[in-house]
Amino acid sequence: MYAAFRSIGAYVPERILSNEDLTKMVDTTDEWITKRTGIKERRIAAKNETTSDMAVKAAELAIERSGLAKSDIDMIVMATISPDYFNMPSTATVVAHKMGLDKVPAFDISAACTGFVYILGIAKAFIESGMKKNILIVGSEKMSAITDYTDRGTCILFGDGAGAAVISATDNKDEAILDLHIAADGSLGDFLMTPDGGTGNPHQNELKSEASFIQMKGNETFKIAVRTLTKDVVQILADNNLESDDIAHFVPHQANYRIIKAVGDALKMREDQVVLTVHKYGNTSGASIPMAINDLYEEGGLKAGEMMLLDAFGGGLTWGSALVPFSPFSK
Ligand code: ACO
Repeated sequence: MYAAFRSIGAYVPERILSNEDLTKMVDTTDEWITKRTGIKERRIAAKNETTSDMAVKAAELAIERSGLAKSDIDMIVMATISPDYFNMPSTATVVAHKMGLDKVPAFDISAACTGFVYILGIAKAFIESGMKKNILIVGSEKMSAITDYTDRGTCILFGDGAGAAVISATDNKDEAILDLHIAADGSLGDFLMTPDGGTGNPHQNELKSEASFIQMKGNETFKIAVRTLTKDVVQILADNNLESDDIAHFVPHQANYRIIKAVGDALKMREDQVVLTVHKYGNTSGASIPMAINDLYEEGGLKAGEMMLLDAFGGGLTWGSALVPFSPFSK
């Protein structure tokens, strides 16, 4: 049995936070943010809008587009670092309940911006082992809830949103996810962290402190991201005897335009192969890759059979890449 990427869906909150808006909150400029990151604006969820609310909207669209019934979904796996609840229940079970899928196994994984590649790998493994047939994978993030809007080094980067996909069993090898790498290096965990509140550093008081929000060694992370991702995508193409021309769409995690450009250039990707949403959504962590695939799909740019190369890098540190043909049921 093989695993096929059947459909995509996404949701973006209405409210736009522009670079201009940020200049009124921290000491920064539109020019600095644009030049260093490529980001012009990002979306911010409403105060009472949760990670699971956004996830449900993306998930329902992905299921509808797959042509399956909701009742065909036999597992839900979520990637999020901004869960509805800190410890339990998992956001995936909240999503399952809101969708009327209470009896379906559901769980979250935490791999920061690499989360979507990790859950794609989990779905692939469950399907190839014959344990499940139709898995809903969702990346959803309310990054604004864990971002310090007094820290100009991080608050300019992040945005909110959700993306989802349906991964199904197939016996047709041509439809199958071709390959997937995931990796981690825990020794660099302090490059990106929310230090406060877990058992490693219990809450000192009732109020959120600075340490409850994301802290990042931006420049160090940037350099390792470029180096590691370049090596990883070169490797996955070589392992599968593919050239960059065989890739219809390079869909990188949308953290920073300069990282995307450096990795794309190393692969000799043409501009029209590279999917970019960083300018309008910023970094939505585990949601960024499916949100980018969804934009491509809704613009009519993603056709059945076309090969996507995904890559991601984030807190952990974690990274991964995948070669994924778009294989809707109607093909
Ligand atoms: N506006 C103006 N100046 C700023 C801002 C800002 N918003 N932020 C930082 N600066 C200043 C710094 O203070 C520094 O000033 P100094 O030279 O006087 O000390 C200067 O700009 C340069 O700062 P750097 O941090 O070296 O800038 P850099 O070019 O590295 O860009 C950035 C910073 C955009 C954060 C970049 O390092 C980056 O994108 N890093 C990688 C992020 C990433 O990929 N993370 C992984 C995924 S996230 C996740 O997993 C949740």
